[in-house]
Amino acid sequence: MGKGMNTLHARDDQKGRNRRMTNANLSETAQAMVAPGKGILAADESTPTIGKRFAGIGVESTEPLRRDYRSMLFSAPSAEQYIGGVILFEETLRQSMPDGEPIPQYLAGRGMIPGIKVDKGAKPLAGCPGEKVTEGLDGLRERLAEYRGLGARFAKWRAVIAIGEGAPSDCCVHANAHALARYAALCQEGGLVPIVEPEVLMDGPHPISRCEQVTGAVLDEVFDQLERHRVELEGIVLKPNMVVSGSECPAQAGVEEVAEATLRTLKAHVPAAVPGIAFLSGGQSAEDATAHLSAMNARAPHPWEVSFSYGRALQAPALAAWQGKTDQLVDAQRAFGERARLNGLARTGDYRPELEAA
Ligand code: 13P
Repeated sequence: MGKGMNTLHARDDQKGRNRRMTNANLSETAQAMVAPGKGILAADESTPTIGKRFAGIGVESTEPLRRDYRSMLFSAPSAEQYIGGVILFEETLRQSMPDGEPIPQYLAGRGMIPGIKVDKGAKPLAGCPGEKVTEGLDGLRERLAEYRGLGARFAKWRAVIAIGEGAPSDCCVHANAHALARYAALCQEGGLVPIVEPEVLMDGPHPISRCEQVTGAVLDEVFDQLERHRVELEGIVLKPNMVVSGSECPAQAGVEEVAEATLRTLKAHVPAAVPGIAFLSGGQSAEDATAHLSAMNARAPHPWEVSFSYGRALQAPALAAWQGKTDQLVDAQRAFGERARLNGLARTGDYRPELEAA
């Protein structure tokens, strides 16, 4: 072997050592996000999406109201017992709590790791009518450095895969998995844990078996791309959909069937090196999302933490209680705190539907 080759190897060794050092931090952060008994609050709705949520309760979406609503969630008593991480939208990462403390610092001070949604949304995929690809890679390295400076320790990127006639296409699955992997590699390079979110949508009349098949194929492609892009699996959190019946399917699978099908799919397609799986709720009711998670954890042990990263399923009861009224912020906070507590119970399989009424 020539001298040049030796130098090359020595350099690779050094790079490898540096990388492993970074990765110890990443894997520690990933583990903290899905620590036993805890999950993630997704409060990263884009401005148009939070606008829709507010419109649902007849409230106009303004910057101060968005801040009031979200700081109410973050300051809920005992939230840190059940919430290990909070996904923020860029606007929120730059906002402050009512007492002036920057929101990322406030969250970190309470032991809830702040994260940031970094994708620029799902856009129509050229050549594949009805399908989408998530954009946002251009300039991402620089944005990640800035977000890290503001206190973010993890990031989120959501890919959406629709089920329909002839869908998903190979092209759609590949394009989305490739973008997820490029995003994840950039995050790890910049010292942030990537939440890798390939969401197979529940819209449609398909049976649960079709969701299982598509979810498995999508996960295979995602992990293939993550490997090609040299993403360290110990330093990611996977945020998948559960395996459920299509929302317009006449025969809806029950709680036990969803838990079985989801675990079967994940065990066949998700490597054990991944520290945690944090499900999205994807339009399930708050009660269903909690019951499904609990049924899965009742079947523990699993190779990874089985946790939640819910948006709607954590916030819907709080939004309903709030109604945009300052004097109802406390009721909203109570509703959110109760949802967080019940999902905390679901982390150990100890949730029961009877607890809802209490
Ligand atoms: P839902 O739980 O409402 O699906 O939202 C989670 C999320 O962050 C989607 O990207």
